[in-house]
Amino acid sequence: MNRLSEKIAAIAPSATIEISDEAQRMKREGIDVISLSIGEPDFATPGHITEACIDALRRGETHYAPSAGIPELRKAIAAKISRENGFPADENNTIVSCGAKNTIYEAMEAVLDPGDEVLICDPCWVSYEPCVQIAGGRAVHHPLPEPAFQVDDTLLERVSRKTKMIVVNSPSNPSGAVLNDASLRCVADICTDHDIVALSDEIYEKLVYGVEHRSLAAIGDMHERTITVNGFSKAYAMTGWRIGYAVAPLPIIRQMIKVQQHTISHPATFAMWGAVAALEGDQSCVDAMRDAFDERRRFVMAALSRMGFATAPADGAFYAFLRTGDDMNVARRWLHEARVAVTPGTAFSAPGWIRLSYAADIETLRRAMERIAQVL
Ligand SMILES: Cc1ncc(COP(=O)(O)O)c(C=O)c1O
Repeated sequence: MNRLSEKIAAIAPSATIEISDEAQRMKREGIDVISLSIGEPDFATPGHITEACIDALRRGETHYAPSAGIPELRKAIAAKISRENGFPADENNTIVSCGAKNTIYEAMEAVLDPGDEVLICDPCWVSYEPCVQIAGGRAVHHPLPEPAFQVDDTLLERVSRKTKMIVVNSPSNPSGAVLNDASLRCVADICTDHDIVALSDEIYEKLVYGVEHRSLAAIGDMHERTITVNGFSKAYAMTGWRIGYAVAPLPIIRQMIKVQQHTISHPATFAMWGAVAALEGDQSCVDAMRDAFDERRRFVMAALSRMGFATAPADGAFYAFLRTGDDMNVARRWLHEARVAVTPGTAFSAPGWIRLSYAADIETLRRAMERIAQVL
């Protein structure tokens, strides 16, 4: 069969697949593999959120909703952004989609024309480039300086006449780095001087440890050219609910709504009611999960430091990022000899590094650290 889209055929399979397939195969064979390769909180969704969704189902919220999302959720998002993120937002500046991933894809479709370039700061999350490619654009990677992974003026060297968008992700998956003010200002200046749209993926904003998260859109007039992406998966342990959102200037939101209307229509109506409860309810569940992640983070970082690894700062998200060299072989070796599954940095355009998720309980992390120490 050769009547296939060249655009989709050109998308490379993720480097995570080999290791995760092998880990799955070993587990099926009954081998006790500890998986530290997952990007999802190991907590249950807080009860009041689930209850709100069940109530919505019982009320009959099982029908089509407005394409951009239910007004109650759009209002709650706008209020949260104005209250917490330091830039103005109205409900018309919002769109609710099926997870931040779907939001990012729609943002690319809304902004890019064939051949447009998108600057992506590396190490980067695995789906940015495929989203750019599906939308017909071209990803241009910019490796951030190790090991702090902050942005500096060298980003400007990648800007061309075709640059339409710059993607930043803070706190970062996979590095755990949180962009400081100087980094955000650098991105803001480049976007403003060269009329570039920014996409700021802030899905891990609630998971910061001892540093402050700042939104790119809060710098100067950046809210006039920034698509701020966020969602419920990480902060509220709602990965399976598939609810994400964007806050952006009206012309961009209008374009995204068109994409959404003709593809997914909108996320599940009752799931959006759960998201309203998440934003408007008691936030102590978020604090409790962050505190648990912080304890695990300190435990893992101390163990890795005792083993002599150089690491990225781990200021945010729930990943340790360590320099191992030859990441594909190290990941294979840790899987087969230590029976610990991790993700090679190659998957994030950062060869030589390994991402280890600490979204697991301390006892599991302790066993994993012991096993890794043994094979070193
Ligand atoms: C940086 C980053 N952005 C976006 C997403 C997508 O999240 P969602 O579950 O809301 O689609 C993830 C999930 O792993 C992520 O790590």
